[in-house]
Amino acid sequence: MGLNIVSIVGARPQFIKLAPLSKVLREEGFKETIVHTGQHYDDNMSDIFFKELEIPEPDYNLGIGSGSHGEQTGKMLIAIEEVLMKRKPDLVIVYGDTNSTLAGALASSKLHIKLAHVEAGLRSFNKMMPEEINRIVTDHLSDILFCPTETAVKNLEKEGITKGVYLVGDIMFDALMYFSRMSEEKSKILQNLKLNPKEYYLLTIHRAENTDNYDRLKNILLAIAQFRRKAVFPIHPRTRSRIKEFNLDKYLDNENILLIDPVGYLDMISLEKNAFAIFTDSGGVQKEAFWLRVPCITLRDETEWIETVKYGWNTLVGANIEKILEAERNIKEGDYVDFSDYYSAPKMKEVVIKEIS
Ligand code: UD1
Ligand code: UDP
Repeated sequence: MGLNIVSIVGARPQFIKLAPLSKVLREEGFKETIVHTGQHYDDNMSDIFFKELEIPEPDYNLGIGSGSHGEQTGKMLIAIEEVLMKRKPDLVIVYGDTNSTLAGALASSKLHIKLAHVEAGLRSFNKMMPEEINRIVTDHLSDILFCPTETAVKNLEKEGITKGVYLVGDIMFDALMYFSRMSEEKSKILQNLKLNPKEYYLLTIHRAENTDNYDRLKNILLAIAQFRRKAVFPIHPRTRSRIKEFNLDKYLDNENILLIDPVGYLDMISLEKNAFAIFTDSGGVQKEAFWLRVPCITLRDETEWIETVKYGWNTLVGANIEKILEAERNIKEGDYVDFSDYYSAPKMKEVVIKEIS
């Protein structure tokens, strides 16, 4: 079956989502063109994922880079349209909720090319988040909506979207299961950082609502300074530059914080698996903590992944110092959850065959 598919990615979590789906689609004999918008471009935010996760080199790297939302999305739209007009695919696949997702969705739907959205139906109900706008627009333009959870299906239903909606499980679960084995074999991060399992916390911060708000960022750093365990902090470039701009560097100079550059996915899985608990504002990291059964404290006021909270593995604390520290004092495991039905890529492949052939 020689379906012609274009996958559009641009940011770190999208490379991780692409890896397992791309593998399954190619094994089926689909012809996949990978378009990398260039939204993330540092080696440790982009190249490392293609190499480690055995993703074929992108057929196009549009090299768009950073910029304001309008500038970045607009440039992507122009460049993606050009590629799509040339390749004339049967289907475009976009992932998650970044500006690359939005640009890919707009470009394909205006050209009347069928559009599939992986991770459809997620909502934070907070339109101050750029991701929320990206998700809503993308879902309303998509022909095939791959939902990871029942909550996502219900969210779409409330917005009147019922056609082309498929509950398929979570592609990041496929990635985690597949690369977890590889991580066990290859990652030396614990030895390199001289860390013992379950002795440290893992910390990630990159969400605009935290990094671009002086008070929130300062509060989070102040709370971390009072932790009872060391926090390993692979710092996102956005966070590094905001901390500098806001003159908050002095809060990083603390024996409780082990600051490191962003790491590849194999090292990240190892850091997650062996952490006593994870503090994060990342969407993907919240889910990985849940699946790895590591308690998670989320530095946000709401989450799209409400199941993680429902089963007791995730606590929402926002950027409130007292709440962060209270959660740190009360770290506990959640309920047993059966994840065996979370695998997603084979189900998505069947949907593509049914919908597009
Ligand atoms: C983007 C997504 C966010 C996702 C995150 C994953 C949007 C609106 N946001 O946020 O949903 O959770 O990716 O990590 O699409 N930078 C570098 N090197 C890089 C990439 C970025 O230095 O390789 C710096 C630049 O200063 C840039 C800033 O990080 O301005 C933000 O990058 P950008 O891609 O705009 O947004 P993210 O915060 O990464
Ligand atoms: N991740 C990684 N290295 C890091 C930080 C995160 O490989 O230094 C992985 C993480 O395990 C998850 C994904 O990147 O799979 C999440 O990306 P991010 O937090 O940037 O974005 P979000 O999921 O919030 O959109």
